[in-house]
Amino acid sequence: MSDTAKSDVRSLDHGTTPLRYARGWHCLGLASTFADGKPHAIHGFGTKLVVWQDSTGKLNVLDGYCRHMGGDLTQGEIKGDNIACPFHDWRWGGDGKCKEIPYARRVPLRARTRRYETAVVNGQLLMWNDPEGSAADHDILPPELPEVLTDKYTPWSWHIKEINGSHCRELIDNVADMAHFYYVHFAFPTSFRNIFEGHTATQFMESKGRPDKSEGGYSGEDSTLKSEATYFGPAYMINWLEVDYKGFVTEVILINCHIPTGPDSFTLQYGISVRKPEGLDEKTVNYIAERYTESFGDGFLQDVAIWENKVAVQNPLLCEEDGPVYQLRRWYEQFYTDVAEIKPEMTDRFEFEVDTTRANEFWHAEVAENLANR
Ligand code: FES
Ligand SMILES: [Fe+2]
Repeated sequence: MSDTAKSDVRSLDHGTTPLRYARGWHCLGLASTFADGKPHAIHGFGTKLVVWQDSTGKLNVLDGYCRHMGGDLTQGEIKGDNIACPFHDWRWGGDGKCKEIPYARRVPLRARTRRYETAVVNGQLLMWNDPEGSAADHDILPPELPEVLTDKYTPWSWHIKEINGSHCRELIDNVADMAHFYYVHFAFPTSFRNIFEGHTATQFMESKGRPDKSEGGYSGEDSTLKSEATYFGPAYMINWLEVDYKGFVTEVILINCHIPTGPDSFTLQYGISVRKPEGLDEKTVNYIAERYTESFGDGFLQDVAIWENKVAVQNPLLCEEDGPVYQLRRWYEQFYTDVAEIKPEMTDRFEFEVDTTRANEFWHAEVAENLANR
């Protein structure tokens, strides 16, 4: 026996990464990106996908590798409504069927490839993944955001970031993590509550910026924030933010979504849209919107820096001020479980509020000391 085993030192259980990709809607990016009459490659779900728009305007997603001899469809061409393989010109339709082989007498029976159902919500292309092969569940799509994409809001400022060396489940813990708002986002979380129910998991949070720090969207002495962030399924979160800066309130919407690419890698995408403040001239409106886009982008990257460097922990050691991490992980488990095996504890309504009193007492004292030491 080693010394460590004999002692009471806690060991980190890194667990094993799931053997499947989550069931649910995944966002591939802004729909407009794919609407240029060219095939697009998206790495996801252990393969490469091909995305293109047909003449009806519909966006199609197929497995990127041709079922004939494995040609890369993302390097092909769109001919009519089909994607034509660069290797021998087999034509594949958005329904997954081979429609035509120009040099052949007939198309072999059952010439079909893997297709994915799609939906466009809030100007974003979503794709249904299910290892069990079920039909897409349109009832659990993320909600349409009223007035976003009109001139009342700024257009999506959209960002894509590859993350290597960690599983996308690492992102999810954030929903239950009260204390990181102080340490990572430089804000005092004054109120913190979670509700998990069905396919959604929500964090309600109110915070005040730390006066000793000024980086990122949550910080800065004069701003208070009300935030509601909901995961709709395993991979798509809408975060409604209301920033009060010296009595001037601005609404910001942040989308945080990801596509798993391999067992320990994923593509993170985030988008920001700001409600244009009324009664101000165009220049000021744009300035304010840009400033919030930047600062919430920075705030989000503060999380990313942690995710990129941490290890996976199956058995986190928690204190009373930490949120319901284990319950959240149980909720997340439903997306990696066959539908028939989903247990009530994964989807039953669960509500929890963290008492932030003691934490804030300490944090205020620490910040006062930081300020005094300046
Ligand atoms: S590999 Fe695609 S047409 Fe032959
Ligand atoms: Fe965070």
